[in-house]
Amino acid sequence: MSAFNMSVDVNQNGNMKNADSSFTVDDIDDIDFSKLLEKPRPLNIDRLRSLDERSLTELTGSPQLRNADNASRAQDHSEYVISPSVGKRSGFNTPRSLHGFESHPMVGEAWDALRRSMVYFRGQPVGTIAAVDNSEEKLNYDQVFVRDFVPSALAFLMNGEPDIVKNFILKTLRLQSWEKKIDRFQLGEGVMPASFKVFHDPVRNHETLIADFGESAIGRVAPVDSGFWWIILLRAYTKSTGDSSLADMPECQKGIRLILSLCLSEGFDTFPTLLCADGCCMIDRRMGVYGYPIEIQALFFMALRCALLLLKHDGEGKEMVEQIVKRLHALSYHMRSYFWLDLKQLNDIYRYKTEEYSHTAVNKFNVIPDSLPEWVFDFMPAHGGFFIGNVSPARMDFRWFALGNCIAILSSLATPEQSTAIMDLIESRWEELVGEMPLKVCYPAIESHEWRIVTGCDPKNTRWSYHNGGSWPVLLWLLTAACIKTGRPQIARRAIEVAEARLHKDHWPEYYDGKVGRYVGKQSRKNQTWSIAGYLVAKMMLEDPSHVGMVSLEEDKQMKPVMRRSNSWTC
Ligand code: GLC
Repeated sequence: MSAFNMSVDVNQNGNMKNADSSFTVDDIDDIDFSKLLEKPRPLNIDRLRSLDERSLTELTGSPQLRNADNASRAQDHSEYVISPSVGKRSGFNTPRSLHGFESHPMVGEAWDALRRSMVYFRGQPVGTIAAVDNSEEKLNYDQVFVRDFVPSALAFLMNGEPDIVKNFILKTLRLQSWEKKIDRFQLGEGVMPASFKVFHDPVRNHETLIADFGESAIGRVAPVDSGFWWIILLRAYTKSTGDSSLADMPECQKGIRLILSLCLSEGFDTFPTLLCADGCCMIDRRMGVYGYPIEIQALFFMALRCALLLLKHDGEGKEMVEQIVKRLHALSYHMRSYFWLDLKQLNDIYRYKTEEYSHTAVNKFNVIPDSLPEWVFDFMPAHGGFFIGNVSPARMDFRWFALGNCIAILSSLATPEQSTAIMDLIESRWEELVGEMPLKVCYPAIESHEWRIVTGCDPKNTRWSYHNGGSWPVLLWLLTAACIKTGRPQIARRAIEVAEARLHKDHWPEYYDGKVGRYVGKQSRKNQTWSIAGYLVAKMMLEDPSHVGMVSLEEDKQMKPVMRRSNSWTC
């Protein structure tokens, strides 16, 4: 995993040249950090506010599209700026809660551990390493993963330390501009790396960045989620600091456009969802999450909405905004109609007729009721529902995935009723989804013959382990954010208490195994940074709920829920 097979050097002018057989970047000094790291304006708002009142429909109306642009972007960026809950703390102090009511001895330990994970490039902090664990084979856990850095970044932003986040955003943006090749195949311009690391050449006493766009990753999986997280993080940074100068840089505007061009280009698709290969997100191994996985669809939706707030609506930006607005309408309709499952919808599928032809078909994807798994009938509570894992012709993956459902709530892909239903489900199925360690990455595990077929006999993904029904502490921040957004912080409090009983004692494992998450995962890394940061972010959000605004988008009031035959989400 740590061997890289391409090399690109970037000179002072930002030009690239292939160098040798490893992927490195040299002399990225063409960005003036001192200018970019100007301190953001002082911040002083401590309430949870609706952030993105501008509606999509409003955007489609051309006068507003033209004129409301700057006003609404400014509103998102500065009017509702979120303050660090306890003021700006010294970069090297270990912050403790000033309010005290949420403080726990683990918080200080977590900050110390998070700081130990920081990665520096030529004297500047640029990210956090995936795991500080020397007891296991490193593989690529010594790298800064884009997705893993998100909770770290949020913790730093909430703590009033935006510089590391800005550096990260700019460095990864430079990496995006590399010419990326796997064997003889050139990757899309907009692709963001899965991870990068700093290489120190002791002979030249020189540091270079080495990135992995999937060409070194186990299974050569494509990091589709990286670009979406990058956009989401750029908006969180802008929201948190009130400083839109970073997002407004032509380089950042171009970066957003390049990422989204990869997704919005016309093709053969019959659905607005994004078609992906297996393992292209947090679940970065073969796990039957190919096709239209919920994690990617929810992140795609959220990134599109964030991009609307970040993109300048001029020239190229305006064209993309129009594309985004159209796609969002189609995507929300599709997801809310076909991915949503509750008792009523389940019963409808159970009674589906098959082989229906023409646009009058009720069973549009020709799902065969016999393909409904046994467990889902018991799992579905009377009140509650969720977005299922995947929908494509004759295939519904009924598994529950944590990340996709939480992001659906935060992005308002889920209607308020659907969001409530997701929280109801989590409460009703507490033992299964939270158990002894929050939170199950997916439920249930696949086993036996199905495990052989779906995972290709993956020994790391045996039942109730790792991606196959394992419990991931990092998901605590997403759960907490979703709880706060839906007005149910007590659920988060309960989950955090469960985590606090073990997380630090067990040295911040990457994941836990077992039906209720009782065992430290078989191959779990210790001191896994996103487990640490996820806990901190959860704590800080509970302490100051206004922080949730960084990662939450209000419902677009104009985007009416689809009235479906079963009308099932109004449960
Ligand atoms: C594992 C996880 C992936 C994570 C990486 C680094 O590969 O599946 O989601 O980004 O480790 O922590």
